[in-house]
Amino acid sequence: MNKHIVLLPGDGIGPEILESSVAILEVIATKFNHQFDFDYQLIGGAAIDEVNHPLPEPTVIAAEKADAILLGAVGGPKWDQNPSDLRPERGLLAIRKALDLYANLRPVKGFKQLLHASPLKEKNIQGSDLLIVRELTGGLYFGRPSERQNDGERVIDTLAYTRSEIERIVKKGFESATLRKKKLTSVDKANVLESSKMWREIVEAEKVNYPDVEVEHCLVDAAAMKLITQPNQFDVIVTENMFGDILSDEASVLTGSLGMLPSASLAENGVGLYEPAHGSAPDIAGQGIANPIAMILSSAMMLRYSFGMNQEAETIETAVEACLDQGLHTADLHVKNGTQVSTQEMTEAIINIINS
Ligand code: IPM
Ligand code: MG
Repeated sequence: MNKHIVLLPGDGIGPEILESSVAILEVIATKFNHQFDFDYQLIGGAAIDEVNHPLPEPTVIAAEKADAILLGAVGGPKWDQNPSDLRPERGLLAIRKALDLYANLRPVKGFKQLLHASPLKEKNIQGSDLLIVRELTGGLYFGRPSERQNDGERVIDTLAYTRSEIERIVKKGFESATLRKKKLTSVDKANVLESSKMWREIVEAEKVNYPDVEVEHCLVDAAAMKLITQPNQFDVIVTENMFGDILSDEASVLTGSLGMLPSASLAENGVGLYEPAHGSAPDIAGQGIANPIAMILSSAMMLRYSFGMNQEAETIETAVEACLDQGLHTADLHVKNGTQVSTQEMTEAIINIINS
């Protein structure tokens, strides 16, 4: 197959880890007889520096025409004092909105080789394998008004959802559960928030269409606790934008490092965007020590979800596991008796296994 992939390196460790993914995709292309062509475009702080806009028009045009998009990460202290519309994160939110990437899938799998690298008790996290389905284009991130009022004494952010926005993500949650262990946990704050009450009603109405899926509702505070005390109780979690943001960082602790967590942001019919769940880690950028695995696993998700290349995706995932079996790890992972390697060494080790 011929596929056209737009690459958005962004900031911090974004460019380094994206290069790892590109190297691996090239090897996959050769092995499976595909042709991938890559088109680099600007986003985030890099775009602000270059053209004074976090999401330049040519990036959106290229992204709309792509078969899929890979994104590194955005943000960094350099732009922290910028006005809101000139912050790198604005570029990320704007591309999610422009491409209607409403469904963010974040699989969280406790690799057996890394169980001891988590600060949590091994016995509690053993067997944890869950998927967070996070709503990505609504809620507090996009509600209007969102402003500091002119007296400077009052600020407003708005949590708004339409029925159809909730319905489509809830359906995605049910569909995802159908393909997995058939358990859906809907996370909300229905004891307080109006938006959560509507969310819960919609889940209740939708569940008749998925009779094999067991459904539970969980308040977000309780869910936060259960995620680290009994994570293997979860299969699919469906939740609104902000709750999903917070819970997915929390869930990454199960994997030993945020550097292990991939994600897919999907539209109804359009192009998909794949990015690690972690940020741009400006403190370690340029040192060659970043963990490329979340980015590499994100490109495996791209192969599976956007191109239907299941075998190719599995080849990458199996190679990552094999590297972990060998005890290889980057500096973010506290592996006992392992071998600490650089970003590039980890990438090469994965490539060697794919080629073997
Ligand atoms: C994420 C990130 C982003 C978010 C930031 C960088 C805007 O934390 O993808 O989880 O909050 O969505
Ligand atoms: Mg986040």
